[in-house]
Amino acid sequence: MKIWTVANQKGGVGKTTAVVTLAGWLQARGHRVLLVDLDPQASLTSYFSQDAEAASRSVYNLFDDRRTRAADLLLPTAGDGPALLAAVPALATLDRQLGSQKGQGLILRQALAPLAGQFDNVLLDCPPTLGILMINALAAADRVVVPTQTEHLALKGLERMTRTLEMVNRSRPHRLQHLIVPTMFDRRTRASNHALEELRSRYQGTELWSGVVPVDTRFREASEQGKSLSQLAPGSRGAEAFLRLLDDLLALDHNEADQRVVA
Ligand SMILES: Nc1ncnc2c1ncn2[C@@H]1O[C@H](COP(=O)(O)OP(=O)(O)OP(=O)(O)O)[C@@H](O)[C@H]1O
Ligand SMILES: [Mg+2]
Repeated sequence: MKIWTVANQKGGVGKTTAVVTLAGWLQARGHRVLLVDLDPQASLTSYFSQDAEAASRSVYNLFDDRRTRAADLLLPTAGDGPALLAAVPALATLDRQLGSQKGQGLILRQALAPLAGQFDNVLLDCPPTLGILMINALAAADRVVVPTQTEHLALKGLERMTRTLEMVNRSRPHRLQHLIVPTMFDRRTRASNHALEELRSRYQGTELWSGVVPVDTRFREASEQGKSLSQLAPGSRGAEAFLRLLDDLLALDHNEADQRVVA
């Protein structure tokens, strides 16, 4: 079971869209997929028409009572969609409740471990803020995907995120790898092109994905229908970009597994 955390401390950069679209393609490949919504705004939960206000089973239960089993909280989604661990607005109170206590960063990692035989891939959707939920998501991650809007201000948010990743890495025995994914790229605008150039000059090599996710209005259509764009319009430019991203992510996981065997 591979856990990928999708995170960026900037809002509205395409995190939830990345989670949904990657999940759609993973399922199309026959992978068993679990999505975890860690955002008190519960966008991912509403994407799949689950009512966050009413959810009696949510990821909140894991933090509220450490004995709760994640397997008892899973919700199905329509049309054989991925399994979902839902978010509720009460997640926003966790930082106040648990913030200063020790050992709160590993709750999610420990809760997900028993699901290893049930799922091939877990995607964690983070809120755009650094708090106990993001810390848990980073501690649980095998890899971090960092969607970054190709726009000047978004690069500042990215700097904050990479600093957070450095901090997390100081307390991990193995380096947590991340991949920056340029999103909402509009090749017709100077701003988008300029931001992409800036990204490519600042972040090189393995930490920046070589592709881009283009602006594609069909993402909105897919969200209105509660589907992944990979299902709604598999041949669209947006869906195809995520298919390429998925192939690259799977290849990275595969290569790392090989390296561990050699080592
Ligand atoms: N490549 C794209 N082209 C066009 N629209 C997009 C694209 N990616 C995302 N969007 C739209 O932009 C909005 C924000 O995307 P999304 O919800 O995925 O961002 P987010 O980073 O999860 O936001 P938040 O920080 O609020 O959780 C949504 O309406 C989504 O449909
Ligand atoms: Mg989101």
